[in-house]
Amino acid sequence: MTTAQHPIGSGFGASTTAAEVLRGIDLSGRLAIVTGGYSGLGLETTRALAGAGAHVVVPARRPDTAKAALGDLAEVDELDLGDLDSVRDFAGRFTSSGRRIDIVINSAAIMACPETRVGPGWEAQFATNHLGHFALVNHLWPVIAPGARIVSVSSRGHHFSGIRWDDMWFERGYDKWQAYGQAKTANALFAVHLDELGEPSGVRAFSVHPGSILTPLQRHIPLAEQIANGWVDENGTPVADWFKTPEQGAATQVWAATSPALAGMGGVYCEDCDIAEPASGEPLPSGPGRPAMFLGVRDYATDREQAARLWALSAELTGVNAFA
Ligand SMILES: NC(=O)c1ccc[n+]([C@@H]2O[C@H](COP(=O)([O-])OP(=O)(O)OC[C@H]3O[C@@H](n4cnc5c(N)ncnc54)[C@H](OP(=O)(O)O)[C@@H]3O)[C@@H](O)[C@H]2O)c1
Repeated sequence: MTTAQHPIGSGFGASTTAAEVLRGIDLSGRLAIVTGGYSGLGLETTRALAGAGAHVVVPARRPDTAKAALGDLAEVDELDLGDLDSVRDFAGRFTSSGRRIDIVINSAAIMACPETRVGPGWEAQFATNHLGHFALVNHLWPVIAPGARIVSVSSRGHHFSGIRWDDMWFERGYDKWQAYGQAKTANALFAVHLDELGEPSGVRAFSVHPGSILTPLQRHIPLAEQIANGWVDENGTPVADWFKTPEQGAATQVWAATSPALAGMGGVYCEDCDIAEPASGEPLPSGPGRPAMFLGVRDYATDREQAARLWALSAELTGVNAFA
């Protein structure tokens, strides 16, 4: 059954932390895979899930860095989401271990990088943030347990672009923010169709906007652009007080992955630890200490027809579809 794209009154909000949403929740005996689980929001997600008793597997493109960040908090393996052979190999190693998965949180991403091509010439943000995760979940599907949840970490950046069906690879000129927007819309649409396919097996999918948080994600944004955006000063010191902390930023993905309040629901886009409102396309006007910003979810990011179309295209491009 389709879940309404409207808040449910979760009792949590923008300042809730991942540890707070897990209070009273015991994840002992559960296994979670967290991509990007060694940096920024992924690292806080790993800490929170492990703190609640889950065994966390972190597939990393820099395993040594991941091991240094995580110590014995999580199991680390190798995965480059921009390389489909690497995705298949990681999934093969995991599935042959004989274990089942209860939670997948697709947190890894790159943002607004200079024009980069991977694989057969694919635009790197779409390929890494969407196609890599698409292939990963489809390869892992046989070992995803009934009752599992899969969380696609999208962004309010999805407001920058829907799927560019007529120029997906930016052959008519590259725009780093539109490319991020398209990839983050794809993350949301992936959850919509995965939820539809997974529901009969008791597997539900969600997408989330975590909030705005200063993390290494901003590494490709020149300092001058960050200053112009009102994020930092000329020394790189944060000046905005509307950013969430990483612990708050991890909360919505952890909430979507574990909250009993979402039982029987799926396919929706969440923010601030609740289901988000549909958005008009106009940014929310600036408020005290906060610039104008987009909130809520655009209809093109929850559209079931576009979600099915994107799924079919992604299956064709990656050569993997667990539901074919
Ligand atoms: N921070 C924000 O304000 C914000 C806002 C909205 C949405 N988000 C979303 O939140 C998620 C987490 O972002 P974050 O702020 O935690 O960023 P982050 O600290 O940069 O973490 C991103 C992670 O993704 C990994 N990654 C990048 N490319 C990869 C690849 N090819 N293969 C495997 N892993 C790869 C990175 O690994 P390396 O460190 O090895 O590169 C890193 O561990 C992202 O999906 C982002 O779009 C963030």
